[in-house]
Amino acid sequence: MGAKKNIKLGAILHGVGGNISGWRHPDAITDASVNFELYKKWTQKAEEGKFDFVFIADGLYITEKSIPHFLNRFEPVTILSALAGISSKIGLVGTLSTSYSEPFTVARQFASLDMISHGRAGWNVVTSPLEGSALNYGKTKQQHPSHPERYKIADEYLEVATGLWDSWEDDAFVRDKESGVFFDPSKMHTLNHKGEYFSVKGPLNIARSKQGQPVIFQAGASESGKNFAAKWANAIFTGQETTEEAKQYYDDVKGRAKALGRNPDEIVIMPGIGPIIGRTQEEAERKYEEIAGLVSIDKALDFLGRFYEHHDFSQYPLDAPFPDIGDLGSNSFQSATDKMKAWAKQEGLTLRQVALRVATPKPTFIGTPEAVADKLQAWFEAGAADGFIVSSAVPRGLEEFVDLVVPILQQRGLFRKEYESDTLRGHLGLPVPENRYAQKRKAVTQ
Ligand SMILES: Cc1cc2nc3c(=O)[nH]c(=O)nc-3n(C[C@H](O)[C@H](O)[C@H](O)COP(=O)(O)O)c2cc1C
Repeated sequence: MGAKKNIKLGAILHGVGGNISGWRHPDAITDASVNFELYKKWTQKAEEGKFDFVFIADGLYITEKSIPHFLNRFEPVTILSALAGISSKIGLVGTLSTSYSEPFTVARQFASLDMISHGRAGWNVVTSPLEGSALNYGKTKQQHPSHPERYKIADEYLEVATGLWDSWEDDAFVRDKESGVFFDPSKMHTLNHKGEYFSVKGPLNIARSKQGQPVIFQAGASESGKNFAAKWANAIFTGQETTEEAKQYYDDVKGRAKALGRNPDEIVIMPGIGPIIGRTQEEAERKYEEIAGLVSIDKALDFLGRFYEHHDFSQYPLDAPFPDIGDLGSNSFQSATDKMKAWAKQEGLTLRQVALRVATPKPTFIGTPEAVADKLQAWFEAGAADGFIVSSAVPRGLEEFVDLVVPILQQRGLFRKEYESDTLRGHLGLPVPENRYAQKRKAVTQ
């Protein structure tokens, strides 16, 4: 492993939050998921805290059992484009599915966001776990691609998108009024991709930004997910709960990347965390109890069901062992559902216990600002994480993290006091990828 730099930090902007009943908290802003002023305030707060990026998650299918945030929220590229205009340094990362979109459109959207923001765009590549998504895109549930096929599609999709992003060499646009030369045709490149899933001619109708290409994020932790991340990801959003699990994942994915000939230091691994901070440990615990106490068992069953294609768990006895549901879940949120099934089996948990653990997870990072900073430092120094993606587990969670935890990390020399760069690649310590055609040209002339 190369020399460690500093901790990387992202902030998930997640409206009323990931807790199914969090909107009922006395301090919750109930229209947060569609409140642009709030998204603006959070972005500015994260930028004041020198965060590397803000992050927008997404999904393509809702039912009446979805969590409130999913029911009524902003489309990621749209909100990030608006946030680009009210920020100047912070990275802007959005989720977009490779199973229900076209690579030409998406490459163009992210290249535009990258240009609008002067090199601050990132794309969280997901494959859409829920089969119901098919119903919103002119398909039947049976036509939702299987888990392995979704990753195969994603692989070809990224060949196309990254190829399109190199359509123009960096000095292709001459714009010489005198001679009437707008661009140099030898520096415009047509992809001519014809593959199993996509046929895309190109070129893309937008040039590269100052960071070369948008940063590729990935979130997905199955075997296929890890192989995909090892091949394509510049940064990874993960979901481990203990240092041991996180370290195992970290070493595993960096090992896979190395085996593919990549530099493992050029993949930034960032577990998602929902810290709860109090003046004392007891105060933090009370805050957790307060938010967890809002979730009824019926709501917890709804929340659990989403991971299994919105399966109706209310049909099973609550205090009997977690029901045998066979393979259900393995075609959707495979890594998450495998984990839940393993807990239930190993710890002999009932349905009630699994539902409550999933719907009201007790954060690993809970306590005083110093205690939370200690744990972040411990994970970072143990080689279990390069950074963290922070979500607000309670109202004002991001503000408290920025005001109380960030200064401690800064004092300890673990986190920047000022931005060293103004692109997302710069913040994350990632190199600017050279245009492939310019690179080839150089190789020939050398
Ligand atoms: C931490 C984390 C965050 C995720 N965020 C999203 C998201 O915002 N939108 C989405 O459609 N899927 C999201 N996913 C789901 C994954 O993209 C993937 O579809 C799912 O986990 C199944 O793949 P896997 O079995 O490889 O993990 C997330 C997964 C993880 C682990």
